[in-house]
Amino acid sequence: MEFGVWTKGLATLAVDCLVLGVFEDGELAGEARSVDSASGGHLKKLLGRGDFAGRPGDTLLVGDVPGIAASRVLLTGLGTKKSFQRKSWRKAWTAAAAALARTRIGSCAVALDRPEARALDDYYLGRAVAEITGATLYRVNDLKTAKKPPAPALKQVLAGPVRKAAAAERGLAHGAAVAAAQGVQRDLANLPANVCTPLFLAEQARALGKRHASLRVKVLDGAAIRREKMGCLLAVSQGSHQPPRFIVLEHRGGKQKEAPVVLVGKGVTFDTGGISLKDPPGMDEMKFDMSGAAAVIASLTLVAALRLPLHVIGLVAAVENMPGGKAVKPGDIATSASGQTVEILNTDAEGRLILCDALHYARRFNPAVVVDIATLTGACVVALGHHHAGVMGNDSALIQELLEAGVRADDRCWQLPLTEEYAEQLKSNFADFANVGGRDGGAITAAAFLAKFTQGLKWAHLDVAGTAYQSGVQKGSTGRPTTLLADFLLQRAGR
Ligand code: BES
Ligand code: MN
Ligand code: ZN
Repeated sequence: MEFGVWTKGLATLAVDCLVLGVFEDGELAGEARSVDSASGGHLKKLLGRGDFAGRPGDTLLVGDVPGIAASRVLLTGLGTKKSFQRKSWRKAWTAAAAALARTRIGSCAVALDRPEARALDDYYLGRAVAEITGATLYRVNDLKTAKKPPAPALKQVLAGPVRKAAAAERGLAHGAAVAAAQGVQRDLANLPANVCTPLFLAEQARALGKRHASLRVKVLDGAAIRREKMGCLLAVSQGSHQPPRFIVLEHRGGKQKEAPVVLVGKGVTFDTGGISLKDPPGMDEMKFDMSGAAAVIASLTLVAALRLPLHVIGLVAAVENMPGGKAVKPGDIATSASGQTVEILNTDAEGRLILCDALHYARRFNPAVVVDIATLTGACVVALGHHHAGVMGNDSALIQELLEAGVRADDRCWQLPLTEEYAEQLKSNFADFANVGGRDGGAITAAAFLAKFTQGLKWAHLDVAGTAYQSGVQKGSTGRPTTLLADFLLQRAGR
């Protein structure tokens, strides 16, 4: 895909299609008006007939508009003028990109009106155009044997209107890289668990290391993991025939000795629940339980591809959670790498068991901040649904940074209160604490468990159980929170 900006002369622009916005009252938005006058009022006449309502998500392809160089115009709804904001702009371009992908249109100019500049400046306009194009044109790497439909013809997208072309161009380049990274998360997470095993994740990480000069990749096998005394991680993995892997990815783009940002991903390639076996309905979706790991790998491809001046380390704990003769049992006690003992009351609360050892491993890097990403609890889905990820931690500045990155990336998270009372629910009679704290406040007690391993670190936890993938007819990975993490990292790099 080739991205660029258009500056003026929409009517004379030699592209296959102009994408124009229409409000719900039938009013042509900003740039569309100049095209309409060039066409001698052709578009107005069409709207006057009431054929296009301008609702967000609506599109209408119009051929052979007179007086313009482009052979088609695609109208896309912006909703009411009063409610017009960045969200409606995103929705309008998403719908338009989806409509374009169903045609043989090869090039287009995006000329939607923009909400006020503060909501979408030139840089973010470019980012959003490229990000949305990439995310909308994404196709699942399925294993269907029937002939695949032809790939979308769209090869060139020009963004506008812009004031500062250089800022928009930088946004487009970043947006294209973010979309590619999002595709990395989605591709990995969409794979079935018989393909995407801990070994497979390690191979993928190694392959990335070969592709990018700035990336160093190290993989710990079972023996190395035992040497690290990651007893909790090993307890989860012991019921599976798939051996565990602990993956370390490092991008050194910052100053010498710069303290790193450490990202930690939950990589449960399949979560049956173990001996605390899950209910069958929807269990296939537990192949997505490595979405946090996929987001970490994706984020490292992004920082490497853009050569960001940052020191970033990705840690991935990759295991499969299975029942079996050797599986860990409720009541078993494991010793974590930190030395703290854990009574495993529920083998389905496995994510925190692998993360606690990974978080402890992060200490050796003297990190500036640590962020873990995990499809950690069903309770978070109950609390927040599918629109916001949960965010908790022990450093309010870091949490604020993530909240703001989520807003800018339109990949939002919402803070849950991780106050000291919640840890009381983790009391155990036989070990330092238990791995579960009952049903109530389950997303928070999970974080309270992780907090036992992050004392003295600046740490935040993203629970993406409700946002990393979709169920139903749209089943598949969403690529969240790679978009949030991308914004977080780009901001830290001083984008
Ligand atoms: N991977 C699940 C969490 C999950 C649930 C992700 C639904 C996506 C959708 C996690 O390992 C898990 O099973 N958590 C348990 C914890 C409980 C046993 C305390 C849960 O949420 O039920
Ligand atoms: Mn589980
Ligand atoms: Zn899980």
